[in-house]
Amino acid sequence: MKTTIPDFDQPVNRQSTDAAKYDARKSVFGSDTVQPLWVADMDLPVPPFLQDALIKRIQHPCYGYTMQSRALKESIQWWMREEHGCRTSAETILFSPSVVTSMCNSISTCTGEGEGVALFSPVYERFYSSILNQKRKVINIPLCLDNGRYTIDLAAFEQACRAGKVKMVLFCNPQNPSGRVWSVEELSELVRICREYEVFLFGDEIHSDIIYPPNTHTSILDIDGAEKWTILAHSIGKTFNCSGLQPSFVLITDQRLRRRFRTQTNQTHTGDINLLAKIAIQALFSEEGQQYKKALIHYLMGNRDFLVERLTPLHQLSMMPPESTFLAWIDFRETGLAHDVIRKKLVEQAGLGLSDGLAYGPAGEGWFRLNFALARTELAKAVEKLEATFG
Ligand SMILES: Cc1ncc(COP(=O)(O)O)c(C=O)c1O
Repeated sequence: MKTTIPDFDQPVNRQSTDAAKYDARKSVFGSDTVQPLWVADMDLPVPPFLQDALIKRIQHPCYGYTMQSRALKESIQWWMREEHGCRTSAETILFSPSVVTSMCNSISTCTGEGEGVALFSPVYERFYSSILNQKRKVINIPLCLDNGRYTIDLAAFEQACRAGKVKMVLFCNPQNPSGRVWSVEELSELVRICREYEVFLFGDEIHSDIIYPPNTHTSILDIDGAEKWTILAHSIGKTFNCSGLQPSFVLITDQRLRRRFRTQTNQTHTGDINLLAKIAIQALFSEEGQQYKKALIHYLMGNRDFLVERLTPLHQLSMMPPESTFLAWIDFRETGLAHDVIRKKLVEQAGLGLSDGLAYGPAGEGWFRLNFALARTELAKAVEKLEATFG
């Protein structure tokens, strides 16, 4: 069945929806009029068939407790097989309100207070807070910048593991903020090190559905030998703009690790999702969802190419062309301005609310992240402001 694809060119008005991206502007940027290009959700509409499924359920007058049905798990198995070539059995699937909840529960499951948890920076800020809030130690392995593209310093990671500093690693694939899609070779070497030094791996694959050809995503669970050490987290939050439904899940192949993780989620009562999230997953992990995803990637790729084309002549700025995600990691260091000055110019002169690169770690100094998941006419307005300010 051919599904209706929304008109992505039509700007969406998110006023009066309590959208964090809009309503938190005053507290974050000191202005509630900056164009919001920060929080990683989309100003693009969800597919109508999803709204229909939610409305149909809402019309039933009881919203009580629900099960984790076989059909729900089957929809996840189907999606992971069709879209990621990842074969998984129903018992490996556990539910979670969000990927960050799973990250916190994984850290509690796999490590004790004071133990080291590695990450590769710059990376999504919650990686740091999830470790620090639980009184674990951040083992920061900075990514290497080679010809404008990040690579993982696997030798430094292995050295830290050999020194006994690392009990677990938090790994983002595709990577936020850069959009890098890690190769099979990189993943295989990472897994080899984890196995050799008995290091647990939390694989955050929340961005793995939005991949731009010719890049291809390989799930960490498809790497030989990863199962025993890996907790893989995914969600419909990013791909289908559903983060407000809190619709996430993890895959844990190893029975012992899964039992330990379940004990942790039982203790924190975080092992289930709400009824609308369940409806949404089943609606979206379907052939109609595949059609929407395809159209979305096509549109986002157009936005990405538009950005690259318009920013390339601006010699003060350079953008790491994203291989995935709707996030552009932009290098402002050629402006010669201090980080604070760039931030002030972005807000006060350009009227733009970008994510501050320093939130991703010290390597983010001089960098800002721009979310390009919005109608192209609106993106063009943002580009014009960048051109006027940094051209
Ligand atoms: C890499 C990454 N992981 C996790 C999240 C948050 O996901 P959730 O809302 O499911 O916790 C984000 C949101 O930006 C993200 O970019």
